[in-house]
Amino acid sequence: MDLYREAFSANPCLPGVDDPYATYAALRQECAVHWCEGPRLWVILAYAEGLEHMRDPRYSRQDHLDKLIARFGAQRIFERQKFDIPYMDGEQHSRMRKHVTQAYRGINLGDLSIFTRQFVDRCLAAVPDQSRFDLVAILANLLPFMVTSELMGVPADQQLEMAEQVSGFVRARGLTQTEETATGGDDAIAVYRHYFLPLIQRRRAEPCGDLLSRLIADPGEDVSLSDDQLLLIISSNFYSASVYTLRLLIGTLARAMALHPDTYSRVRSDRRLIPAAVEEVLRWDAPAQALNASVATEDLDVDGRTIRAGDSVTVLVGAANHDPRVFADPTAFRLDRVPNPHLSFAPGLHQCLGLHLARMEGAVVLEALCDRFQALSCDDAASRRMVADRFRGHDRLILEGRR
Ligand code: HEM
Repeated sequence: MDLYREAFSANPCLPGVDDPYATYAALRQECAVHWCEGPRLWVILAYAEGLEHMRDPRYSRQDHLDKLIARFGAQRIFERQKFDIPYMDGEQHSRMRKHVTQAYRGINLGDLSIFTRQFVDRCLAAVPDQSRFDLVAILANLLPFMVTSELMGVPADQQLEMAEQVSGFVRARGLTQTEETATGGDDAIAVYRHYFLPLIQRRRAEPCGDLLSRLIADPGEDVSLSDDQLLLIISSNFYSASVYTLRLLIGTLARAMALHPDTYSRVRSDRRLIPAAVEEVLRWDAPAQALNASVATEDLDVDGRTIRAGDSVTVLVGAANHDPRVFADPTAFRLDRVPNPHLSFAPGLHQCLGLHLARMEGAVVLEALCDRFQALSCDDAASRRMVADRFRGHDRLILEGRR
């Protein structure tokens, strides 16, 4: 159990570790919050303290960016991120959230779920009967990106280039930053700039009611976004919806069903259980294991430890989702946790704005798996965990499906 203590201090998300939850449980029993020397920040592992942090305006995202700007210099990705929603604070953040929420409201989830289902069926149809297949390669790598591209109006022949750049953003938003991750972020934004600036100009001149047009201007609001702000929101959408989060949710969902055959049969025979299954996957092995870091603007007490003004803090969502004070038998995968108050969408000031989209895509994938396969099994030895900063899931997930 103590095996991962040192690794935890180097990177609290324990990337690549099969079962980090026993280590988290041991640490949480000692205290709700621990200092991690690698990223030099406090990490909250308990549910109540995590939720409180998510709702507390005395933590600042902008101050954390200022620390990165002081370390890596101005004119880098971190300075641009100041205009990105997850890094905003206070009134500026509320106004931007309202604007983006309003634009997302115009998304027709019904149409998008039909698009999603058709795409999933095409991918799964390519799997021959009784064969082993890598779900990440055939489906999870592509689906979230296709849905985001559909929403953002990216033509098919440009989608691959966009996809290749997303990891640059992701690394520039990790808890641990280096010169290399900062440069990757700078390069990624340059490509998005090159592609999306002309598209933004076209939509400014001729709005067409798509998501980008609604982000540029909403008739009911006085928010007017600069090209740079729009670029950040667009890249943020690709980042939030693509390589990490949804891609990982799809793999973890299928693996959970393979590891729990009785649950899978129940869901197959009663499809009304699909939403509960998706929520439990989100709780059981959260795709985004930790939040972006923020900085305490005054001295704050968390479970008897003093977080000094200027210290950086994050919540280890994955650990909080396994807090036994809220979730009985937390390592068990159970469909009867209804409601399931997991923290995987960060229910606070920075709550995920794409949660409806994420839930829809998860539910469509599970329904399609249920329709196609009577039983699933997973070859963990042939699969490969992703090793990445704040996220958890698989880069390769070898499944076998029985029709
Ligand atoms: C399984 C899928 C997803 C998961 C687990 C997830 C999780 C999260 C989490 C934990 C946060 C809070 C981040 C923080 O405070 O540091 C967040 C924020 C956000 N998410 Fe998601 N997300 C998912 C999908 C999406 C999708 C599909 C979109 C967009 C279409 C999206 C858009 C956003 C945005 C814009 C924010 C920033 C909100 C703010 O700072 O006010 N997410 N998400």
